[in-house]
Amino acid sequence: MLRIGMLTSGGDCQALNAAMRGVAKVLFEKREDVEIYGIEDGYKGLIYGKYRLLTSRDFSGILTIGGTILGTSRQPFKLMRVPDDNGIDKVAAMKKNYKKWKLDCLVVLGGNGTHKTANLLREEGLNVVTLPKTIDNDIWGTDMTFGFQSAVDIATNAIDCIHTTAASHGRVFIVEVMGHKVGWLTLHAGIAGGADIILIPEIPYDIDKIAEAISRRDKAGKRFTILAVAEGAISKEDAKLSKKEYKEKLKNRKHPSVSYELAEQILAKTGKEVRITVPGHTQRGGAPCPYDRVLSTRLGSAAAELILDKKFGNMVGIVDGEIKAVPLEEVAGKLKKVDPDCSAIREAKNVGISFGE
Ligand code: F6P
Repeated sequence: MLRIGMLTSGGDCQALNAAMRGVAKVLFEKREDVEIYGIEDGYKGLIYGKYRLLTSRDFSGILTIGGTILGTSRQPFKLMRVPDDNGIDKVAAMKKNYKKWKLDCLVVLGGNGTHKTANLLREEGLNVVTLPKTIDNDIWGTDMTFGFQSAVDIATNAIDCIHTTAASHGRVFIVEVMGHKVGWLTLHAGIAGGADIILIPEIPYDIDKIAEAISRRDKAGKRFTILAVAEGAISKEDAKLSKKEYKEKLKNRKHPSVSYELAEQILAKTGKEVRITVPGHTQRGGAPCPYDRVLSTRLGSAAAELILDKKFGNMVGIVDGEIKAVPLEEVAGKLKKVDPDCSAIREAKNVGISFGE
């Protein structure tokens, strides 16, 4: 008997179901003695013993469906070693359930925090194989995460929709894009949507340069300016603060997010009306785009092969178009950021996009 535990952890994204289907289809195709324990709500289900047995039928018809059939939750890595409110040792509980269910491997679909915990479980002696999911595309060891391209589509569509109304009114518009601490999503959606100014955390901005870029467009007879702003965008002054100081500043920020602060500053500097659009969690919702369906199916299939070959302790990633196994210890704890000197930024600047530097 081959017993697999499967869980999805952290913020959801498109193609989680497609990826699980990829894993399951291969396992059910190649082995007749497979049992899949669908662990509910991420690591929470593993800690508190919540699962349901899944058959091949559970994986039918889910290729195109967003969300996750298993549910998910955020269980911060930094609290994994801290007992819960009832004094339960979470790591010990996860190991206990893994052993109780006689699992041969745990398949984990998740982002950065999830990978840290997956690596911790590997260190604790569990067999783990992981798949990189997140709209942020910030997982080290893979060129692309599934969820990212679907989110790019949605964020781009938001900018596209703003274009027509922006032209009618001659205003400044800000579209705030998700992405946590990195700017992949904003960079791609910003270029795809024809944003005039793109602000990402990797390139701290100067408000005067933003005002200059808006005035330049004004003088050139352009009626409107669209800014694609990453939720993690940061000013040059704030980038000089220590992590602790910046966190403290954010705690006391009077604005709900960076976009509102920018809007106030732009109005003060240019006298222009600013409107803000925050597509928020719509960026994680809906059906996966075809690219993500292909990527997640390929990654799922490769993850199943790793399990069958007993090559545990790896994440499956895509590097230069090829699916690869990347050791978990290399992935965990690293963040894949946009390189400010990469060619995509250079090319964007060449077509006149300002990064507010
Ligand atoms: O990591 C995915 C992500 O959507 C980020 O882009 C965003 O910052 C965060 O999750 C939002 O988290 P939550 O769903 O917990 O509000």
